[in-house]
Amino acid sequence: MTVATLPTTSLSLEDIELGDPDTMLRDDIDGIFRLVRTRRPIGFDREFPAAGMEPGPGFWSLTRHGDVARVNADWETFSNLPAVGIPTYGIKTSIISMDPPVHTKFRLIVNRGFTPRMIGRLKEQVWAHARRIVDDAASRAADAGDPELDFVTEIGAKLPTLVIAALLGMPEEDHELIYRLTNTFIAPSDPEYGGSVEQMREADRAMEEYALGLGRDRRGRTGDDLTSIIVNASVTRDDGTRSEVTDQEFAEFVKLLMIGGNETTRNAIAHGVVLFDRHPDQRALLLAEPDRMATLAADEVVRYASPVSLMRRTATCDAVVGDVAVREGDKVVMWYRAANFDEEWLDEPYRFDISRHPNDHVGFGAGGPHFCLGASLARLEIGAMLATVAARLPHLEVTGPPAKLRTLSSHGVKHLPVRLGRPA
Ligand code: HEM
Repeated sequence: MTVATLPTTSLSLEDIELGDPDTMLRDDIDGIFRLVRTRRPIGFDREFPAAGMEPGPGFWSLTRHGDVARVNADWETFSNLPAVGIPTYGIKTSIISMDPPVHTKFRLIVNRGFTPRMIGRLKEQVWAHARRIVDDAASRAADAGDPELDFVTEIGAKLPTLVIAALLGMPEEDHELIYRLTNTFIAPSDPEYGGSVEQMREADRAMEEYALGLGRDRRGRTGDDLTSIIVNASVTRDDGTRSEVTDQEFAEFVKLLMIGGNETTRNAIAHGVVLFDRHPDQRALLLAEPDRMATLAADEVVRYASPVSLMRRTATCDAVVGDVAVREGDKVVMWYRAANFDEEWLDEPYRFDISRHPNDHVGFGAGGPHFCLGASLARLEIGAMLATVAARLPHLEVTGPPAKLRTLSSHGVKHLPVRLGRPA
Protein backbone atom coordinates (compact mmCIF):
# COMPACT_ATOMS: atom_id res chain seq x y z
CA MET A 1 0.00 0.00 0.00
CA THR A 2 1.51 3.37 -1.00
CA VAL A 3 1.75 6.16 1.55
CA ALA A 4 -0.23 9.22 0.46
CA THR A 5 1.66 12.49 0.22
CA LEU A 6 0.27 15.22 2.42
CA PRO A 7 -1.21 18.18 0.54
CA THR A 8 0.45 21.57 1.04
CA THR A 9 -0.17 25.16 0.03
CA SER A 10 2.03 28.11 -0.80
CA LEU A 11 -0.39 30.45 1.02
CA SER A 12 0.15 31.56 4.58
CA LEU A 13 -2.73 31.24 7.01
CA GLU A 14 -3.41 35.01 7.00
CA ASP A 15 -3.84 35.02 3.22
CA ILE A 16 -6.46 32.27 3.09
CA GLU A 17 -10.01 33.35 2.24
CA LEU A 18 -12.48 30.48 2.64
CA GLY A 19 -15.32 32.84 1.67
CA ASP A 20 -13.91 33.43 -1.81
CA PRO A 21 -15.25 30.96 -4.43
CA ASP A 22 -11.97 31.33 -6.34
CA THR A 23 -10.15 29.74 -3.40
CA MET A 24 -12.09 26.54 -4.15
CA LEU A 25 -10.74 26.48 -7.72
CA ARG A 26 -7.08 26.50 -6.62
CA ASP A 27 -5.00 23.37 -7.21
CA ASP A 28 -3.76 23.52 -3.60
CA ILE A 29 -7.23 23.63 -2.02
CA ASP A 30 -6.65 20.37 -0.10
CA GLY A 31 -3.46 21.85 1.33
CA ILE A 32 -5.38 25.02 2.22
CA PHE A 33 -7.99 23.07 4.19
CA ARG A 34 -5.25 21.04 5.90
CA LEU A 35 -3.39 24.18 6.98
CA VAL A 36 -6.59 25.81 8.25
CA ARG A 37 -7.71 22.68 10.11
CA THR A 38 -4.38 22.13 11.84
CA ARG A 39 -3.57 25.77 12.64
CA ARG A 40 -6.94 27.52 12.96
CA PRO A 41 -9.59 24.80 13.26
CA ILE A 42 -12.32 27.29 14.15
CA GLY A 43 -11.97 30.74 12.63
CA PHE A 44 -13.98 33.65 11.34
CA ASP A 45 -14.00 34.23 7.57
CA ARG A 46 -15.24 37.22 5.66
CA GLU A 47 -17.83 36.91 2.90
CA PHE A 48 -17.33 37.94 -0.69
CA PRO A 49 -20.00 39.40 -2.99
CA ALA A 50 -22.05 36.38 -4.09
CA ALA A 51 -23.40 36.49 -7.61
CA GLY A 52 -23.87 40.25 -7.55
CA MET A 53 -25.23 40.46 -3.97
CA GLU A 54 -23.65 42.52 -1.22
CA PRO A 55 -21.43 40.37 1.02
CA GLY A 56 -22.93 39.26 4.34
CA PRO A 57 -21.36 39.76 7.79
CA GLY A 58 -19.00 36.76 7.65
CA PHE A 59 -19.14 33.27 9.14
CA TRP A 60 -17.46 30.87 11.53
CA SER A 61 -15.60 28.06 9.77
CA LEU A 62 -15.50 24.66 11.48
CA THR A 63 -13.02 22.22 9.98
CA ARG A 64 -12.65 19.45 12.59
CA HIS A 65 -14.73 16.29 12.49
CA GLY A 66 -15.73 16.57 16.17
CA ASP A 67 -16.92 20.21 15.97
CA VAL A 68 -18.85 19.52 12.76
CA ALA A 69 -20.57 16.50 14.32
CA ARG A 70 -21.54 18.44 17.45
CA VAL A 71 -23.05 21.37 15.57
CA ASN A 72 -24.76 19.08 13.07
CA ALA A 73 -26.52 17.16 15.84
CA ASP A 74 -27.52 20.21 17.94
CA TRP A 75 -30.41 21.49 15.84
CA GLU A 76 -31.90 23.52 18.69
CA THR A 77 -28.84 25.77 18.92
CA PHE A 78 -27.87 25.63 15.24
CA SER A 79 -30.82 26.15 12.95
CA ASN A 80 -31.24 25.43 9.22
CA LEU A 81 -33.10 28.73 8.95
CA PRO A 82 -32.86 31.09 7.20
CA ALA A 83 -30.46 29.29 4.80
CA VAL A 84 -28.01 26.39 4.53
CA GLY A 85 -25.66 28.07 2.05
CA ILE A 86 -23.40 30.92 3.14
CA PRO A 87 -25.37 33.72 1.39
CA THR A 88 -29.04 34.08 2.32
CA TYR A 89 -30.82 34.03 -1.04
CA GLY A 90 -34.29 33.84 0.46
CA ILE A 91 -35.30 30.70 -1.43
CA LYS A 92 -36.95 27.95 0.63
CA THR A 93 -36.39 24.34 -0.32
CA SER A 94 -38.63 22.10 1.72
CA ILE A 95 -37.23 19.96 4.55
CA ILE A 96 -33.67 21.27 4.31
CA SER A 97 -35.19 24.69 5.14
CA MET A 98 -37.01 23.44 8.25
CA ASP A 99 -36.10 22.60 11.85
CA PRO A 100 -37.70 19.90 14.00
CA PRO A 101 -40.50 19.31 14.93
CA VAL A 102 -41.96 20.53 11.60
CA HIS A 103 -39.03 19.00 9.74
CA THR A 104 -39.68 15.59 11.29
CA LYS A 105 -43.31 15.51 10.11
CA PHE A 106 -42.45 16.43 6.54
CA ARG A 107 -39.40 14.19 6.35
CA LEU A 108 -41.54 11.21 7.36
CA ILE A 109 -43.68 11.68 4.27
CA VAL A 110 -40.84 11.49 1.81
CA ASN A 111 -38.94 8.86 3.82
CA ARG A 112 -41.38 6.28 2.53
CA GLY A 113 -39.76 6.53 -0.89
CA PHE A 114 -36.27 5.86 0.50
CA THR A 115 -36.70 2.87 2.82
CA PRO A 116 -34.20 -0.02 2.45
CA ARG A 117 -37.00 -2.02 0.80
CA MET A 118 -37.62 0.71 -1.80
CA ILE A 119 -33.90 1.11 -2.54
CA GLY A 120 -33.44 -2.68 -2.65
CA ARG A 121 -36.14 -2.86 -5.31
CA LEU A 122 -34.19 -0.39 -7.46
CA LYS A 123 -30.90 -2.27 -7.37
CA GLU A 124 -31.22 -4.36 -10.55
CA GLN A 125 -32.63 -1.42 -12.49
CA VAL A 126 -29.84 0.97 -11.44
CA TRP A 127 -27.11 -1.52 -12.43
CA ALA A 128 -28.87 -2.14 -15.75
CA HIS A 129 -29.14 1.61 -16.43
CA ALA A 130 -25.42 2.01 -15.63
CA ARG A 131 -24.51 -0.75 -18.11
CA ARG A 132 -26.69 0.74 -20.84
CA ILE A 133 -25.34 4.29 -20.35
CA VAL A 134 -21.72 3.09 -20.44
CA ASP A 135 -22.23 0.77 -23.43
CA ASP A 136 -24.08 3.47 -25.40
CA ALA A 137 -21.28 5.96 -24.80
CA ALA A 138 -18.66 3.36 -25.71
CA SER A 139 -20.33 2.52 -28.99
CA ARG A 140 -20.81 6.22 -29.87
CA ALA A 141 -17.13 6.84 -29.11
CA ALA A 142 -16.02 3.78 -31.12
CA ASP A 143 -18.10 4.92 -34.12
CA ALA A 144 -16.42 8.32 -33.94
CA GLY A 145 -12.91 6.80 -33.78
CA ASP A 146 -12.54 7.11 -29.98
CA PRO A 147 -12.15 10.90 -29.66
CA GLU A 148 -11.71 12.67 -26.35
CA LEU A 149 -15.13 13.19 -24.75
CA ASP A 150 -16.67 14.79 -21.68
CA PHE A 151 -17.29 12.06 -19.11
CA VAL A 152 -19.68 14.27 -17.12
CA THR A 153 -22.20 14.99 -19.85
CA GLU A 154 -21.79 11.75 -21.81
CA ILE A 155 -21.86 9.30 -18.88
CA GLY A 156 -21.66 10.59 -15.30
CA ALA A 157 -24.68 12.89 -15.31
CA LYS A 158 -27.03 10.47 -17.01
CA LEU A 159 -27.58 7.93 -14.24
CA PRO A 160 -28.60 10.34 -11.42
CA THR A 161 -30.92 12.26 -13.74
CA LEU A 162 -32.52 9.06 -15.00
CA VAL A 163 -32.99 7.63 -11.51
CA ILE A 164 -34.50 10.73 -9.88
CA ALA A 165 -36.70 11.35 -12.92
CA ALA A 166 -38.00 7.77 -12.74
CA LEU A 167 -38.64 8.08 -9.00
CA LEU A 168 -40.61 11.26 -9.54
CA GLY A 169 -42.39 9.87 -12.58
CA MET A 170 -41.00 12.47 -14.99
CA PRO A 171 -41.02 11.69 -18.73
CA GLU A 172 -37.68 11.12 -20.46
CA GLU A 173 -38.05 14.13 -22.75
CA ASP A 174 -37.85 16.42 -19.68
CA HIS A 175 -34.48 15.12 -18.42
CA GLU A 176 -32.48 17.70 -20.34
CA LEU A 177 -34.64 20.54 -19.01
CA ILE A 178 -34.24 19.41 -15.40
CA TYR A 179 -30.49 18.99 -15.84
CA ARG A 180 -30.24 22.56 -17.14
CA LEU A 181 -32.49 24.10 -14.47
CA THR A 182 -30.82 22.37 -11.53
CA ASN A 183 -27.39 23.45 -12.84
CA THR A 184 -28.49 27.07 -13.08
CA PHE A 185 -30.00 26.85 -9.60
CA ILE A 186 -26.91 25.50 -7.85
CA ALA A 187 -24.34 27.81 -9.36
CA PRO A 188 -25.23 31.49 -9.33
CA SER A 189 -21.48 32.22 -9.02
CA ASP A 190 -20.38 30.13 -11.97
CA PRO A 191 -20.46 31.99 -15.29
CA GLU A 192 -20.97 28.83 -17.38
CA TYR A 193 -23.98 27.50 -15.48
CA GLY A 194 -25.83 30.68 -14.63
CA GLY A 195 -23.75 33.38 -13.09
CA SER A 196 -26.36 35.50 -11.31
CA VAL A 197 -28.89 35.40 -8.51
CA GLU A 198 -31.53 36.50 -11.02
CA GLN A 199 -30.92 33.43 -13.17
CA MET A 200 -30.96 31.28 -10.05
CA ARG A 201 -34.38 32.70 -9.07
CA GLU A 202 -35.62 32.20 -12.61
CA ALA A 203 -34.54 28.54 -12.52
CA ASP A 204 -36.24 28.18 -9.13
CA ARG A 205 -39.51 29.54 -10.54
CA ALA A 206 -39.27 27.28 -13.60
CA MET A 207 -38.67 24.20 -11.42
CA GLU A 208 -41.62 25.19 -9.26
CA GLU A 209 -43.87 25.55 -12.31
CA TYR A 210 -42.71 22.18 -13.55
CA ALA A 211 -43.29 20.54 -10.17
CA LEU A 212 -46.78 22.04 -9.86
CA GLY A 213 -47.65 20.52 -13.22
CA LEU A 214 -46.47 17.09 -12.07
CA GLY A 215 -48.53 17.42 -8.90
CA ARG A 216 -51.73 18.43 -10.72
CA ASP A 217 -51.36 15.34 -12.84
CA ARG A 218 -51.02 12.98 -9.85
CA ARG A 219 -53.32 14.47 -7.19
CA GLY A 220 -56.06 12.02 -6.23
CA ARG A 221 -54.50 9.17 -8.21
CA THR A 222 -52.75 6.20 -6.61
CA GLY A 223 -49.23 5.25 -7.62
CA ASP A 224 -45.96 4.32 -5.98
CA ASP A 225 -43.83 7.00 -7.61
CA LEU A 226 -42.60 9.66 -5.16
CA THR A 227 -44.74 12.34 -6.77
CA SER A 228 -47.92 10.42 -6.03
CA ILE A 229 -46.79 9.56 -2.49
CA ILE A 230 -46.05 13.20 -1.63
CA VAL A 231 -48.92 14.91 -3.38
CA ASN A 232 -51.50 12.63 -1.76
CA ALA A 233 -50.00 12.77 1.75
CA SER A 234 -51.40 14.73 4.66
CA VAL A 235 -49.64 16.30 7.58
CA THR A 236 -50.54 17.38 11.13
CA ARG A 237 -50.44 21.17 11.38
CA ASP A 238 -49.29 23.26 14.37
CA ASP A 239 -52.91 23.63 15.57
CA GLY A 240 -53.38 19.83 15.64
CA THR A 241 -55.54 19.62 12.51
CA ARG A 242 -54.58 17.38 9.64
CA SER A 243 -54.61 18.52 6.05
CA GLU A 244 -53.22 17.59 2.65
CA VAL A 245 -49.76 18.72 1.58
CA THR A 246 -50.34 22.03 -0.23
CA ASP A 247 -49.26 22.67 -3.83
CA GLN A 248 -46.49 24.92 -2.57
CA GLU A 249 -45.18 22.35 -0.08
CA PHE A 250 -45.30 19.68 -2.74
CA ALA A 251 -43.41 21.80 -5.26
CA GLU A 252 -40.65 22.51 -2.75
CA PHE A 253 -40.26 18.78 -2.05
CA VAL A 254 -39.91 18.01 -5.74
CA LYS A 255 -37.41 20.84 -6.25
CA LEU A 256 -35.27 19.58 -3.37
CA LEU A 257 -35.28 16.04 -4.73
CA MET A 258 -34.43 17.21 -8.24
CA ILE A 259 -31.54 19.30 -6.92
CA GLY A 260 -30.35 16.87 -4.24
CA GLY A 261 -30.64 13.85 -6.48
CA ASN A 262 -28.75 15.23 -9.45
CA GLU A 263 -25.54 17.14 -9.07
CA THR A 264 -24.18 15.62 -5.85
CA THR A 265 -24.25 12.09 -7.25
CA ARG A 266 -22.98 13.18 -10.65
CA ASN A 267 -20.03 14.92 -8.99
CA ALA A 268 -19.24 11.90 -6.85
CA ILE A 269 -19.18 9.69 -9.96
CA ALA A 270 -16.87 12.08 -11.84
CA HIS A 271 -14.52 12.40 -8.84
CA GLY A 272 -14.58 8.62 -8.52
CA VAL A 273 -13.41 8.17 -12.11
CA VAL A 274 -10.48 10.51 -11.45
CA LEU A 275 -9.64 8.74 -8.18
CA PHE A 276 -9.67 5.26 -9.75
CA ASP A 277 -7.57 6.56 -12.66
CA ARG A 278 -4.97 7.72 -10.12
CA HIS A 279 -5.20 4.60 -7.94
CA PRO A 280 -5.17 1.51 -10.16
CA ASP A 281 -4.67 -0.74 -7.11
CA GLN A 282 -8.06 0.42 -5.78
CA ARG A 283 -9.63 -0.08 -9.16
CA ALA A 284 -8.35 -3.66 -9.15
CA LEU A 285 -9.93 -4.18 -5.71
CA LEU A 286 -13.27 -2.94 -6.98
CA LEU A 287 -13.07 -5.11 -10.10
CA ALA A 288 -12.19 -8.21 -8.13
CA GLU A 289 -15.33 -8.08 -5.98
CA PRO A 290 -17.75 -5.54 -7.45
CA ASP A 291 -20.76 -6.73 -5.45
CA ARG A 292 -19.03 -6.40 -2.09
CA MET A 293 -16.85 -3.39 -2.86
CA ALA A 294 -19.26 -1.12 -4.77
CA THR A 295 -20.95 0.35 -1.70
CA LEU A 296 -17.71 0.64 0.26
CA ALA A 297 -16.10 2.35 -2.73
CA ALA A 298 -19.02 4.78 -2.96
CA ASP A 299 -18.54 5.82 0.66
CA GLU A 300 -14.80 6.30 0.26
CA VAL A 301 -15.38 8.39 -2.88
CA VAL A 302 -17.92 10.54 -1.03
CA ARG A 303 -15.49 10.98 1.88
CA TYR A 304 -12.54 11.78 -0.37
CA ALA A 305 -14.39 14.05 -2.80
CA SER A 306 -16.97 15.54 -0.41
CA PRO A 307 -19.38 16.60 -3.20
CA VAL A 308 -21.28 18.77 -0.70
CA SER A 309 -18.47 20.93 0.68
CA LEU A 310 -20.39 22.61 3.46
CA MET A 311 -23.66 23.26 5.21
CA ARG A 312 -24.38 26.40 7.13
CA ARG A 313 -26.32 26.71 10.36
CA THR A 314 -27.36 29.88 12.20
CA ALA A 315 -26.98 30.18 15.98
CA THR A 316 -30.35 30.57 17.71
CA CYS A 317 -28.66 31.82 20.92
CA ASP A 318 -25.21 32.65 22.23
CA ALA A 319 -23.20 29.42 22.37
CA VAL A 320 -19.71 28.02 22.66
CA VAL A 321 -18.15 25.89 19.92
CA GLY A 322 -14.74 24.48 20.79
CA ASP A 323 -13.00 27.44 22.40
CA VAL A 324 -14.98 30.07 20.51
CA ALA A 325 -17.96 32.12 21.67
CA VAL A 326 -20.60 32.31 18.96
CA ARG A 327 -23.31 34.99 19.16
CA GLU A 328 -27.00 34.56 18.42
CA GLY A 329 -27.55 35.08 14.68
CA ASP A 330 -23.99 34.15 13.68
CA LYS A 331 -23.49 31.97 10.63
CA VAL A 332 -21.70 28.73 11.50
CA VAL A 333 -20.31 26.77 8.56
CA MET A 334 -19.52 23.07 8.80
CA TRP A 335 -16.83 22.36 6.20
CA TYR A 336 -17.55 18.68 5.51
CA ARG A 337 -14.76 18.73 2.96
CA ALA A 338 -12.20 19.66 5.62
CA ALA A 339 -13.62 17.45 8.38
CA ASN A 340 -13.40 14.36 6.16
CA PHE A 341 -9.59 14.62 6.30
CA ASP A 342 -9.23 15.31 10.01
CA GLU A 343 -6.13 13.42 11.19
CA GLU A 344 -7.39 13.49 14.77
CA TRP A 345 -10.38 11.43 13.71
CA LEU A 346 -8.98 9.19 10.96
CA ASP A 347 -5.67 7.43 10.30
CA GLU A 348 -4.03 8.40 7.03
CA PRO A 349 -6.98 10.43 5.73
CA TYR A 350 -5.19 11.27 2.47
CA ARG A 351 -4.98 7.59 1.53
CA PHE A 352 -7.78 6.67 -0.87
CA ASP A 353 -8.76 3.24 0.43
CA ILE A 354 -12.04 1.71 -0.63
CA SER A 355 -11.78 -1.04 1.97
CA ARG A 356 -12.15 1.41 4.88
CA HIS A 357 -14.78 0.08 7.24
CA PRO A 358 -16.40 1.58 9.16
CA ASN A 359 -16.22 4.78 7.13
CA ASP A 360 -17.81 7.27 9.42
CA HIS A 361 -17.34 10.28 7.14
CA VAL A 362 -19.50 13.42 7.13
CA GLY A 363 -20.01 13.63 3.36
CA PHE A 364 -23.73 12.89 3.80
CA GLY A 365 -24.03 14.90 7.03
CA ALA A 366 -22.98 14.05 10.55
CA GLY A 367 -25.72 12.32 12.49
CA GLY A 368 -28.17 15.21 12.80
CA PRO A 369 -31.80 15.29 11.64
CA HIS A 370 -30.90 16.40 8.11
CA PHE A 371 -28.65 13.44 7.33
CA CYS A 372 -28.89 12.90 3.59
CA LEU A 373 -32.20 11.27 2.80
CA GLY A 374 -30.84 9.87 -0.45
CA ALA A 375 -27.60 8.41 0.97
CA SER A 376 -28.47 4.75 0.26
CA LEU A 377 -29.69 5.60 -3.20
CA ALA A 378 -26.54 7.65 -3.87
CA ARG A 379 -24.31 4.78 -2.69
CA LEU A 380 -26.17 2.42 -5.00
CA GLU A 381 -25.80 4.71 -8.03
CA ILE A 382 -22.16 5.65 -7.42
CA GLY A 383 -21.12 2.06 -6.73
CA ALA A 384 -22.99 0.70 -9.76
CA MET A 385 -21.58 3.32 -12.12
CA LEU A 386 -17.98 3.14 -10.93
CA ALA A 387 -17.94 -0.67 -10.94
CA THR A 388 -19.51 -0.70 -14.42
CA VAL A 389 -17.00 1.82 -15.77
CA ALA A 390 -14.12 -0.20 -14.29
CA ALA A 391 -15.40 -3.47 -15.78
CA ARG A 392 -16.56 -2.31 -19.20
CA LEU A 393 -14.08 0.46 -19.96
CA PRO A 394 -10.78 -1.04 -18.77
CA HIS A 395 -8.76 1.34 -20.98
CA LEU A 396 -10.52 4.54 -19.93
CA GLU A 397 -7.98 7.30 -19.51
CA VAL A 398 -8.51 10.71 -17.91
CA THR A 399 -6.89 13.05 -20.43
CA GLY A 400 -7.08 16.40 -18.66
CA PRO A 401 -7.96 18.11 -15.39
CA PRO A 402 -11.61 18.32 -14.29
CA ALA A 403 -13.31 21.69 -14.90
CA LYS A 404 -14.48 22.66 -11.42
CA LEU A 405 -17.67 24.52 -10.57
CA ARG A 406 -17.12 28.01 -9.14
CA THR A 407 -19.02 27.79 -5.87
CA LEU A 408 -18.40 27.44 -2.16
CA SER A 409 -21.08 24.94 -1.36
CA SER A 410 -20.26 22.01 -3.59
CA HIS A 411 -17.22 20.28 -5.01
CA GLY A 412 -18.59 20.18 -8.51
CA VAL A 413 -17.10 18.87 -11.72
CA LYS A 414 -18.63 20.47 -14.81
CA HIS A 415 -16.52 18.60 -17.36
CA LEU A 416 -13.99 15.81 -17.33
CA PRO A 417 -12.07 15.00 -20.53
CA VAL A 418 -11.53 11.26 -21.03
CA ARG A 419 -10.74 8.81 -23.77
CA LEU A 420 -12.74 5.61 -23.40
CA GLY A 421 -10.43 3.29 -25.32
CA ARG A 422 -11.38 -0.19 -26.45
CA PRO A 423 -14.34 -1.53 -24.41
CA ALA A 424 -13.98 -4.92 -22.64
C1 HEM B 1 -23.09 11.74 -3.42
C2 HEM B 1 -24.33 12.09 -3.35
C3 HEM B 1 -24.92 12.91 -2.24
C4 HEM B 1 -24.28 13.64 -1.27
C5 HEM B 1 -22.79 13.84 -1.06
C6 HEM B 1 -25.32 14.25 -0.46
C7 HEM B 1 -25.06 15.04 0.63
C8 HEM B 1 -26.03 15.59 1.45
C9 HEM B 1 -25.78 16.41 2.61
C10 HEM B 1 -24.40 16.80 3.10
C11 HEM B 1 -26.97 16.76 3.14
C12 HEM B 1 -27.20 17.65 4.37
C13 HEM B 1 -26.88 16.89 5.62
C14 HEM B 1 -26.87 17.75 6.86
O1 HEM B 1 -26.83 18.97 6.76
O2 HEM B 1 -26.87 17.18 7.94
C15 HEM B 1 -28.00 16.17 2.31
C16 HEM B 1 -29.36 16.32 2.51
C17 HEM B 1 -30.31 15.82 1.65
N1 HEM B 1 -30.11 15.00 0.56
FE1 HEM B 1 -28.34 14.34 -0.13
N2 HEM B 1 -26.54 13.88 -0.95
C18 HEM B 1 -26.35 13.06 -2.04
C19 HEM B 1 -27.32 12.44 -2.81
C20 HEM B 1 -28.67 12.60 -2.63
C21 HEM B 1 -29.70 11.97 -3.42
C22 HEM B 1 -29.44 10.97 -4.55
C23 HEM B 1 -30.90 12.43 -2.96
C24 HEM B 1 -32.30 12.14 -3.40
C25 HEM B 1 -32.72 11.52 -4.37
C26 HEM B 1 -30.62 13.34 -1.86
C27 HEM B 1 -31.59 14.00 -1.14
C28 HEM B 1 -31.32 14.76 -0.02
C29 HEM B 1 -32.37 15.42 0.74
C30 HEM B 1 -33.86 15.40 0.45
C31 HEM B 1 -31.73 16.09 1.80
C32 HEM B 1 -32.38 16.94 2.89
C33 HEM B 1 -32.65 16.07 4.09
C34 HEM B 1 -33.24 16.84 5.26
O3 HEM B 1 -33.17 18.06 5.29
O4 HEM B 1 -33.80 16.17 6.14
N3 HEM B 1 -29.27 13.41 -1.68
N4 HEM B 1 -27.40 15.44 1.30
